[in-house]
Amino acid sequence: MIDTMQTQHISVMPEEVIQFLQPAAGRCYIDGTLGGGGHTALLLERCAPDGRVLGIDADALALDRVRVRLATAVEQGRLLLAHGNFAEMEQIAETNKFQHVDGIVLDLGFSSDQMNAPERGFSFSADGPLDMRMDQTHERSAAEIVNTASEQELADIFWRYGEETRSRQLARRIVRTREKGPITRTGQLAALAVAGVRYKPGAIHPATRMFQALRIAVNEELAHLEAVLPQMVRLLQRGRQVAGYEQSGSAGRMVVISFHSLEDRIVKDFMRREATDCLCPPRVPVCVCGHKAQLRVLTSRPMMPDQQEIERNPRARSAHLRAAEILPVVS
Ligand SMILES: C[S@@+](CC[C@H](N)C(=O)[O-])C[C@H]1O[C@@H](n2cnc3c(N)ncnc32)[C@H](O)[C@@H]1O
Repeated sequence: MIDTMQTQHISVMPEEVIQFLQPAAGRCYIDGTLGGGGHTALLLERCAPDGRVLGIDADALALDRVRVRLATAVEQGRLLLAHGNFAEMEQIAETNKFQHVDGIVLDLGFSSDQMNAPERGFSFSADGPLDMRMDQTHERSAAEIVNTASEQELADIFWRYGEETRSRQLARRIVRTREKGPITRTGQLAALAVAGVRYKPGAIHPATRMFQALRIAVNEELAHLEAVLPQMVRLLQRGRQVAGYEQSGSAGRMVVISFHSLEDRIVKDFMRREATDCLCPPRVPVCVCGHKAQLRVLTSRPMMPDQQEIERNPRARSAHLRAAEILPVVS
């Protein structure tokens, strides 16, 4: 379930994202995880000359870089950049007058820019402050969790978000160490995970699961994913209501790329539920819930990158892509 390769230099599964979103001129797209702007750049290229993209990122530094990299599209008004959490996607879209959306992509997790900057504290292989916040305006850093959570809370985080089998042992080590003074560096934390473990070069680093778990906890990644999915559906529904949409032959689509099973399960369960008409328990003879399917799932199984892409971009190897299309509203 872990994202073993923690770097990303190029966009993951770019052709698949384009194949599902089918960007076209005049249409509007949201990239909820702008990062280095790879997917956004592709969307802009394919929806030229007048299609638009709203790029959202929790990391203000990512926005600054993309503002430079894609300056022409920004100047033309084809690329809008918004600092914020995708958990507030509807609000961000409304603020940017971006209410009729034709496609949305999420490429979850952290970027290579974040990973490769030791001062951001995501990496166990380069020493830095124990930070891990994607949004630097967010108050709670990894150091705060590591130094204030109880032993039980730490063990729960490592187990739940990292499936770390040594969760209790690591939590105990942390609590003993911090009794002597706060743990403030990624190097200190990584050393606690490595102590007493023999691992072969090329094998998963003993700190991988603990770092992943802490990152998920610091950034509340699963809660934000759960919050954004229904908003994506509502934004695409509104896009569908635009005059002339039905004639165009295309329906709004969402694509989500996840990198560990906790995220993928949330996406899979959400898409399945929203592709089902009635959610009543099987023993209920007549539907009482009134739930109507809003999505058609386009990927019965998650798509994974091919070998060529994995060779080009090792981080892609744990990617799971799921896509769905919006259905007309039943009144
Ligand atoms: C894997 S990178 C995206 C890479 C991008 N698709 C590309 O092609 O360059 C993920 C980005 O999403 C951002 N991110 C993660 N969770 C977020 C959230 N809840 N809200 C907003 N941005 C988020 C991270 O800060 C990071 O920059």
